[in-house]
This record gives sequence, structure tokens and C-alpha cells, in this order.
Amino acid sequence: MTATIHTPDELARAIGRPGRPDRSDRLSLVPTMGALHEGHISLVRAAKTLGAPVVVSVFVNPLQFGPGEDLATYSRSLERDVELLEREGVDAVFAPSAETMYPSGPRTTIQPGPKGAILEGASRPGHFAGVLTVVAKLFSLTCATDAFFGEKDYQQLVLVREMAADLNLPVRVHGRPIVREPSGLALSSRNRYLSDAEREVAGVLSRALATGSLDRARSLIDASSGLDLDYLELRTPELEEIPAGYTGPARLLVAAKVGTTRLIDNAEVRLG
Ligand code: PAF
Repeated sequence: MTATIHTPDELARAIGRPGRPDRSDRLSLVPTMGALHEGHISLVRAAKTLGAPVVVSVFVNPLQFGPGEDLATYSRSLERDVELLEREGVDAVFAPSAETMYPSGPRTTIQPGPKGAILEGASRPGHFAGVLTVVAKLFSLTCATDAFFGEKDYQQLVLVREMAADLNLPVRVHGRPIVREPSGLALSSRNRYLSDAEREVAGVLSRALATGSLDRARSLIDASSGLDLDYLELRTPELEEIPAGYTGPARLLVAAKVGTTRLIDNAEVRLG
């Protein structure tokens, strides 16, 4: 008898294949662009707790850099990265070349939904299409059942989750908290571009977010010099606009240039 089925769960049962996150040969993926810091290491450690093999990808993805951005100068330190990952007991480091990843150039790509055009997407057109395309490729190449992303790139995390849900990708997307320097500055591979004086200025961003209020954050940023603010916005955890009368968790997100370095940061706040 030929079965007619209507839902993904029924389909998985009928063909005898559980949705891949539930399969027994599990694998955890931590996608990175290298120049690893404690933020990345915290993702690796979270991945290790699942007990499955852990693969870390190190690939500076040209597709997510716009013209005039720092693709050519982005820090590359594969040997050091591999040493760090070896110490963490990572099973494999996947470090492909751009030619291996895009043998036909950027031909088929993945476009984000409308949230790809706000915040970072407004300032960096095409950025999230580049991110989603490479992340989808890494998911396919590794057949990962679990993938780990930092909340530092909060909009990226939301969009990767949307992609996994919208395209029925058989992977669980885990978001992990931001790791900060003692000064509060969120760890980022781009922090190495900052001079000591610029680091001081950059500290304003995390202090502004820590106020827990859009207005207080704005006052603090307006009162400080040396910051070129791109956006400071309050949104729901799913990055929707805040509806009137909304109470509950929200995200305060900021992007600013300090000298020539563009920094982003965000924090959870509670409204009401
Ligand atoms: O967050 C990053 O480092 C990158 O955007 C990612 C997810 C590795 C894709 O290139």
C-alpha cells in the first residue's frame, strides 16, 4: 500500500529516517572565521558538552564582506587557531580555500527574509546573504546535527535560526552568551584593530547597553566623543519592532565606528 503523508514528522517515520538532529550519529559544528578568541573557545566548550564529535570551521568568507570592508586585512592565524583547538580536544578543523568553497563563484545563494535588511543589513547590503550561504554550505558539508553561534552577532543568530526553520534544515542552532573583557568590551576578532585610546572609547558601548534602557544608553553615547554611532535600537528577541505596551524580554543593539573599526554589541533588557 502506498502511503500518502502530509507532515515532516510523518514523512520521517514513513521513510524510516528520523529528522537529522535526532539521528544517532550526531556531530557539532562551530563555524568561525578564525583569529580565535575566548568567545570562540566558549562555543567549542559548549559544543563539547553534547558529547558528539566537534568540528570547527575556519574560513574567512569573501561573500559576506562588502566593497571597502576588511576582507584583505582580516586577521588570519590558522596555525595558532589549530593549536588552540587541539588543546580544546576538537576532532577536526575544516579550513577550506575560497576556491574549494565557491568553485563556480557565488552562483546559487541564500537570501535572508526581511530581517536581513535592518540593523547590520541596512549598513552592510548583501552581508547576510553571504553569511547564510556559507553557513548552509557548512551545514551540508558537515551534516551537523548541532551548530553553535555567539550572541555577539545577534542578528546573524536570528537569521541562521530562521533559515534552519524556513528551509527545514535538520540542525539545532544553539546561541551562546557574549564573552566580554573585564572592561565590558565584547570580544571580537576586530578588537585587535583598536589602539589603547580607542579601546577606552569602545568601552562606552557595553556601558551604554548595561544601563538597560534605550534612553539612558543614548544619553551616554551622545555624551561621549570618538564614537560614530550607526544605530542604537531596541527590538523584541526576534528582532521585530517593539509593539505598543509590550512587556517582557527585549534586545538593545548597537553599532558604531571607533576610528576606522566598526563594532557591534547587544544585550538583553526587560521591558515593563
Ligand atoms: O560569525 C562569524 O564568524 C561568521 O559570520 C560565520 C558564522 C563563521 C560565517 O562566515
